[in-house]
Amino acid sequence: MKVSFSEAAYPKSGALVVGVLADKKLTDSARRVDKKTGGAINRALKASKFKGRKGQWLDIVGPSGVSASRVSLVGLGKAEGLDDLALESIGGSIHKNLAKKGDTKISILWEDVKGAPVTGKDAAARLAYGLSLASYSFDKYHTKKNDEDSGGLREAVVMAKEPQACTRAYGALAKIADGIFLTRDLVSEPANVIFPVSLAKECRKLSKLGVKVEVLSPAKMKKLGMGALLGVGQGSANESQMVIMQWNGAGARKKPVAFVGKGVTFDTGGISLKPAAGMEDMKWDMGGSGTVIGLMKALAGRKAKVNAVGIVGLVENMPSATAQRPGDVVTSMSGQTIEVINTDAEGRLVLADALTYVQSRFKPETIIDLATLTGAIIISLGHEYAGLFSNNDDLAAQLTVAGEAEGEGVWRMPLGPDYDKLIDSDIADIRNTGKGRAGGSITAAQFLLRFIENDTPWAHIDIAGMAWSNKARDTVPKGGTGYGVRLLNRFVADNYEKK
Ligand code: BES
Ligand code: MN
Ligand code: ZN
Repeated sequence: MKVSFSEAAYPKSGALVVGVLADKKLTDSARRVDKKTGGAINRALKASKFKGRKGQWLDIVGPSGVSASRVSLVGLGKAEGLDDLALESIGGSIHKNLAKKGDTKISILWEDVKGAPVTGKDAAARLAYGLSLASYSFDKYHTKKNDEDSGGLREAVVMAKEPQACTRAYGALAKIADGIFLTRDLVSEPANVIFPVSLAKECRKLSKLGVKVEVLSPAKMKKLGMGALLGVGQGSANESQMVIMQWNGAGARKKPVAFVGKGVTFDTGGISLKPAAGMEDMKWDMGGSGTVIGLMKALAGRKAKVNAVGIVGLVENMPSATAQRPGDVVTSMSGQTIEVINTDAEGRLVLADALTYVQSRFKPETIIDLATLTGAIIISLGHEYAGLFSNNDDLAAQLTVAGEAEGEGVWRMPLGPDYDKLIDSDIADIRNTGKGRAGGSITAAQFLLRFIENDTPWAHIDIAGMAWSNKARDTVPKGGTGYGVRLLNRFVADNYEKK
């Protein structure tokens, strides 16, 4: 959807939206439109249950005095609650309520609300950002486009003071949205379209933005000793790949921050085969890599002053005559041997070699990995928080703060020697599962920690409950959520770019 800004003017067509505060308190814009329509807003408020609660909605269809198709009231809640996230979710409700009502254009008459924490161009830009994030849809495979479903809505104009300044403020946010949309697209694509080689090709497209992109072939990975990653992919007809993306926006001598993503383009479980019900969900088992790729796009798009490396391990986990067996022992790039107790605990095997590679080549200052790693994290935290594991309290705190600010929460989980013991193997250095199902997300994180060298600050974010959603939220439609792009973009902005 096209989003733009302009000076206030009554639109010739389409919907006209104005805000109403809690307890039916009209904003300046609403008061203006009420006058223009001969009191239509006050009459409608009297005749309805609309109170002005945040996100509440009331349509006044075909009012006299204006040529708009409708005047729509959106509840803003209390003025003091109008922070960034509230403005975004109001933008989201505007989209939700008008997407399917037949208008092709929305005009929002926006004026500063007294007592609101965010005002001016920043408020108008946030509103537009929310609208844009909510307007995302993945419908390329519907061959019969019907306006009932897609709504036909094409354009939103936020009418606010200093539209040029608003456009600039929105521009930076729109670059982040571009990254989020890429992640959502990649996660939503089916596994016959997105497999390791095709996903690597998507990464290559980032070179247009100035990202340096390298792809490691299976032969190259074999030479490097990546037996853990290659073991996972060996049952698939699709070659495994590793992609290294570098964005160098800070001085050449500055150590990078590294983002590592699990990219299992389809996870059948391998020989430890998953049950059929719900297996289609495993097309989004590349969600961690999707987030890393979207993040690199956002950072490069807005020319972030940071040196960032994004690494994704791309494999398909299939059962076949060449697939690895439960009980196989593989040697990782780190030299540590791993007993593969369960071929469905494959993500940690992929990440192990990616973590070793990124450390040996880049000596990063900080490492953050993202993965749809365990079903157990969904049992722990549901779909409200991602699981955060870290060997460093400062890093954990920075990520928690960033998540809070962006509405992409992380919740810290424990690590410790008693959990670590559970992944000792009788015949190799490490086993790839704990003993039984207890603490499944924690033993997975302990496994990753065995591949972190010299106490490098590291965080693992288990996004199994967050990468996909079956329920639409204000600014996140159903499907691939793009979770993590905002969180990590903010983490970079606050902790690397302000120094
Ligand atoms: N990709 C799955 C985890 C997952 C499950 C993500 C559900 C999203 C939704 C992962 O590879 C996996 O299969 N983990 C196993 C580990 C077990 C075998 C130790 C799990 O969680 O059951
Ligand atoms: Mn698995
Ligand atoms: Zn998996």
